[in-house]
Amino acid sequence: MIKVAILGYGTVGSGVYKVLTENADIIEKRVGEALSVKYVLDLRDFPGDPVESVLVHDFELIEKDPEVSIVVETMGGLKVAYDFVKRCLLAGKSVSTSNKELVAAKGAELLTIAKEKNVNFMFEASVGGGIPIIRPLLNCVTPDRIEEVSGILNGTTNYILTAMAEEGADYDALIKRAQELGYAERNPEADVEGYDSCRKIAILTSLVCGRQVDYEDIYTEGITKITPEDLGYAKQIGGALRLLGISKIHDGRVHSIVAPFIVGKNHPLYAVNDVMNAVFVKGNMVGDLMFYGSGAGSLPTASAVVSDVIEEAKNIGKNIPVTWEAEKLPLADKGEFSCRFLVRTKSAKEKIEAAFGTVEYLDTDTAAEIAFLTGELTESDFEEKAGKIELIHRIRVSI
Ligand code: HSE
Repeated sequence: MIKVAILGYGTVGSGVYKVLTENADIIEKRVGEALSVKYVLDLRDFPGDPVESVLVHDFELIEKDPEVSIVVETMGGLKVAYDFVKRCLLAGKSVSTSNKELVAAKGAELLTIAKEKNVNFMFEASVGGGIPIIRPLLNCVTPDRIEEVSGILNGTTNYILTAMAEEGADYDALIKRAQELGYAERNPEADVEGYDSCRKIAILTSLVCGRQVDYEDIYTEGITKITPEDLGYAKQIGGALRLLGISKIHDGRVHSIVAPFIVGKNHPLYAVNDVMNAVFVKGNMVGDLMFYGSGAGSLPTASAVVSDVIEEAKNIGKNIPVTWEAEKLPLADKGEFSCRFLVRTKSAKEKIEAAFGTVEYLDTDTAAEIAFLTGELTESDFEEKAGKIELIHRIRVSI
């Protein structure tokens, strides 16, 4: 019998407990040995909940129990989670976490400790909720040079953008709904300002490049400045607004960005709606791949966490190597990133064309602004040209 402890009984932790107990028979068959939850750690009490029988409040009980060989971390946050995870690894226990903040900041270090202690540190659920993406990147596309890893990496913002476009629903009400559904972070600012997507693209890029990509180095814009007018223009050009995390790798240079993009009908991410996420991977041999599924929510995320637990249970006493060197990988300057732009301006056509040359005009509902599409421009070219007109708003376009 393999004993498991779960740190945190919130949205994901309670899902992990449910998956491990309700699917115990199938998990036992796949591991070849039964798994049982010995402890669940939380500061709170849960009177009447089945977890009561294994609930503890003292982390040291878990750390010092040699019977526990696998620990699940679903507390979130950085400081305490880092301390607990590090101590579990040092105590010779494998760890599976859904904590993207922890993985983005400390992934390389925790993988090194796991290797030294001959255990495993796994984080399938840290990107894309239930989507299998970390293990495919580490185990399946290994012969390829990866040229791009991009995607819709946040369930909350995709849910909000889809509902705003389809129902014209109110932004604040949607955040509340996303929280009730267990999609949003405790502080939803991390979702809507793009920080969560940024950490996830930093994790994916670190794995693809085998070196530390600091999320603080990635230019990040969230969805808080998106207006109903922007969604209207996206519809007019046959596209949909999506918050994308993008990393493109050319000649060893990595171009990364997180921002709202209008994606066209033929774009692989166009049809990814609601809480669904998708990760697009381009390999120089395999070509285009897409991974799709629920990007947030208790059970999809828990399923990904438990997939790690199963992998760890099958590999007790054996470290599975992961290349993620701590040495920082410098990213290409944001000004070099290129795409098309949808521009809304108060300036007249003469001024627009003097700055941008020939552009594609869109229909507008008001005489107070003109909207147009540029050709492909680098960010720095765009900034230089946009400085010559009275800009209301601009959105990147990938059609
Ligand atoms: N708040 C995150 C999201 C949870 O909405 O995608 C999953 O990481």
